[in-house]
Amino acid sequence: MGVLKENKPTADILMTSMRAMGYSFESAVADIIDNSISAHANEIVIRFPENPSERFVAICDNGDGMTQHELFDAMKYGSEGKRGGRSEDDLGRFGLGLKAASLSQCRKLTVVSKKNGVYSAYIWDLDIIIEKKDWFVVECSDDQIRDIHCSDFLDEYPSGTVVIWENFDFIEKSSGDLYAVLNEKMSVTADYLSLIFHRFLNRTDKSSVNIMINNYQLKGLDPFLESHNKTNIRRKISIPIADNEGKEHMVTVQPYILPFQKDLSASDKKISGGIENYRSAQGFYIYRNERLIVWGKWFNRPRDELTKYARIKVDIPNALDDIWGIDIKKQSATIPASVRKRLNKAVDEVMDISVRKQSYRGRTDNPDDSVEYIWERISQRQGMYTYRINRSSSVFRLIEDEISDTARAHLEMILEEIENNVPYQQIYIDKSQNVIDENQDDGRIADLEEKAEAMISIMLKSGSISREEAVAKLLTVEPFCNYPDLRERLIGGGTHGGV
Ligand SMILES: Nc1ncnc2c1ncn2[C@@H]1O[C@H](COP(=O)(O)OP(=O)(O)O)[C@@H](O)[C@H]1O
Ligand SMILES: [Mg+2]
Repeated sequence: MGVLKENKPTADILMTSMRAMGYSFESAVADIIDNSISAHANEIVIRFPENPSERFVAICDNGDGMTQHELFDAMKYGSEGKRGGRSEDDLGRFGLGLKAASLSQCRKLTVVSKKNGVYSAYIWDLDIIIEKKDWFVVECSDDQIRDIHCSDFLDEYPSGTVVIWENFDFIEKSSGDLYAVLNEKMSVTADYLSLIFHRFLNRTDKSSVNIMINNYQLKGLDPFLESHNKTNIRRKISIPIADNEGKEHMVTVQPYILPFQKDLSASDKKISGGIENYRSAQGFYIYRNERLIVWGKWFNRPRDELTKYARIKVDIPNALDDIWGIDIKKQSATIPASVRKRLNKAVDEVMDISVRKQSYRGRTDNPDDSVEYIWERISQRQGMYTYRINRSSSVFRLIEDEISDTARAHLEMILEEIENNVPYQQIYIDKSQNVIDENQDDGRIADLEEKAEAMISIMLKSGSISREEAVAKLLTVEPFCNYPDLRERLIGGGTHGGV
């Protein structure tokens, strides 16, 4: 090894760059509230300007508070307090949230804290950092502390913390009207927090958390409509998942099947998160220590009738942080494929999907079992039939990996409407008069070849099959199975076809 040379970060440049991490206003507020909840606060008050002369946002809590020494450390980028390990109910993670979230929205962060009756306060002011080009925090005297906005909130409690944001340069640059913009952010923030923290807000015991925004008390949303009598609460199951050291922790999965939209009252629509996304917001709701991290995602799970109205509550303890990559902003998370698979399996099991699929949709009654049809003929009760588009048809692979969950939900709506609007009558008349042009034009085969190539390259991506096998599979699938001549053209394609 060579010589060790100290190479410390450049304060003003790093601090400025960190502002661009991509926090939204509401997720930045949520990160501050995570700290309050981790500090066992049960009263949290967020103060937004009530008139244009107020130019700050404050987040006040009655949590454990910090001593001057602890607050000094908490202000540090990469605070050391939790080096020894985090408690099970800690919502923090990287030792950055307080600073990064705050300064992503403003240039001046003041934190006042009270513990054992003693007040302390420090300020990060980006303008001072830029001037001094070093990591200087401002330490406030008792007199200065008394002048800090909302510091009197702490007078009523034995301990607590107030975080104040000031100097909203981004908002001021993009709009002259800070008051109006903060007013808008206030209502977005209220909705966001009502969802993210609904489990804390809706608790009925003394561990419940009260969040006020100015004089408005937040009510938790209820994405599972647990109190609705038509919500079908399925069996809860626990999946043991090993952390990096091989120690197992329980992930719990609790599926709910929500009522049909027609059974929802106006207030149900509101507390479930709004009707405009009632369907597109179905999916997994993933919580880390009861705080919602990701929601309304299906993680590439194939959509079907049975999961159309399902929301699945998944609880992951913070001990498993290392296996499911959560980002610093807690705005997204990636679930490893192995865990995803087990979640999906658990959902199938609990919802008896394999069994119920057939009875729900009827039995497919297509002419030839060895062909994968695009349109399935479904036999229902009493000798009646319907036609449905086969959602697991290979043609859907063309979009499988590219489509967002919202787009997928919308696609499902389109497919349903296509199915509900098949012009059976007109087709019947035209067919009986022999006036349907079923002899595809000359371009059809070239067109199909192009589509087949696209699908083959997707099938080959998995790496588990050969080109020959992919072609063979395609030739059992509509529309390709109707053109046996394609085989020759496609097998050859592998050798002379360009990349
Ligand atoms: N509202 C608060 N009350 C008590 N302690 C706090 C509060 N906010 C932050 N802290 C302390 O400051 C530390 C750093 O916070 P933060 O930068 O958000 O990182 P993290 O939450 O990942 O630890 C926390 O671990 C906690 O000890
Ligand atoms: Mg934090």
